[in-house]
Amino acid sequence: MARRRLPKAVFDYLDGGAEGEVTLRENCRAFQDVSFRPRHAVSFPACDLSTRVLGFDLALPFLLAPIGYSRLMHPEGEIAAARAAGEAGTGYILSTISGHRLEDVKAGSSGPVFYQLYLMGGRAAAEDVIHRARAAGCSALVVTIDTPVSGMRERDYRNGVRELVSGSLREKLPFLPQVLARPGWLINFLRDGGIHPLPNVVLPGKGPMPLVDINAALASAAVTWADLRWIRELWRGPIVVKGVLTGEDARRAVDEGAAAVSVSNHGGRQLDCVSAPVRALPEVVAAVKGQAEVWMDGGVRRGSDIVKAFCLGARAVLCGRAYAYGMAAAGKAGVSRAIEILRADLERTLRLLGCPSMTKLDRSYVNVPASWQAG
Ligand code: GLV
Repeated sequence: MARRRLPKAVFDYLDGGAEGEVTLRENCRAFQDVSFRPRHAVSFPACDLSTRVLGFDLALPFLLAPIGYSRLMHPEGEIAAARAAGEAGTGYILSTISGHRLEDVKAGSSGPVFYQLYLMGGRAAAEDVIHRARAAGCSALVVTIDTPVSGMRERDYRNGVRELVSGSLREKLPFLPQVLARPGWLINFLRDGGIHPLPNVVLPGKGPMPLVDINAALASAAVTWADLRWIRELWRGPIVVKGVLTGEDARRAVDEGAAAVSVSNHGGRQLDCVSAPVRALPEVVAAVKGQAEVWMDGGVRRGSDIVKAFCLGARAVLCGRAYAYGMAAAGKAGVSRAIEILRADLERTLRLLGCPSMTKLDRSYVNVPASWQAG
């Protein structure tokens, strides 16, 4: 439905990855390398899908991941996603590249909202948003560390995303037919006021930063370990480091005070040909030694993927595309439907596996290739 509703440029931004999309595919495929070892002939009255992250009890073992440009996918965008997450008893992570004010997103949700921070707009803009996030009641900062520049999203390049977002009318013209081919989306987009500046990246003395394409956005978004130390001075709450793929970075993040790390390759959108997160998970779990929570994101499309991640030591999983297709198709109702599909999947998988609770999953429920054991 998302593909039918969105202009190609928007759908491909959501659906696509970097370069040959090797990692985009591998993120999903790698789950197939893990097989289940079920315990049959057991029965239990209820399945417990809950997990505890950063001191919050979540009814579901997954949170909704940050998704840039959500308001272009649906006018309600981030507000719809946060509300659906809250209603389902889980958390929502708001991207810096968001179209709605963080205060409105937080107020719209009954669940925890975390803010994902890029340094777009420099430290002054970051300082402003960190204060706003605290005042609005956001519970954690999620700092993404895998974006020194944008990955080469070839679909965006072909579809003219840069031209459509920030080009002149003449530059836009060749790419407009794909937009005109989706009149339903176009009417909603125009009713919503067209392209909005980024309300959570406020440049001192200048106001909200104009929306730019992903290349320009991430070119100024890089975060270093030194920045992380600076962020810690400003933000006394928990910090999650997202974008860890090795034991070395996991250790470093823990030493720098991260409360959680998310094993992630940014959904295959940054460096192509890196490991799938589920493959890197055992190495990271071993390196962290229980000193921080380990989350993972990337390639999660089914409840069974989440179960496998928990068997390998994840405390929580982030789902991105899995709900964003629903958001693009039908706003909040679509996000809720996506969450419900995953919830039903999880319950069925636990019953078939013979395990009553997400927190009781461990390595004994899966076979992993011998080469993964080294982690
Ligand atoms: C934004 O972070 C993106 O990956 O497109």
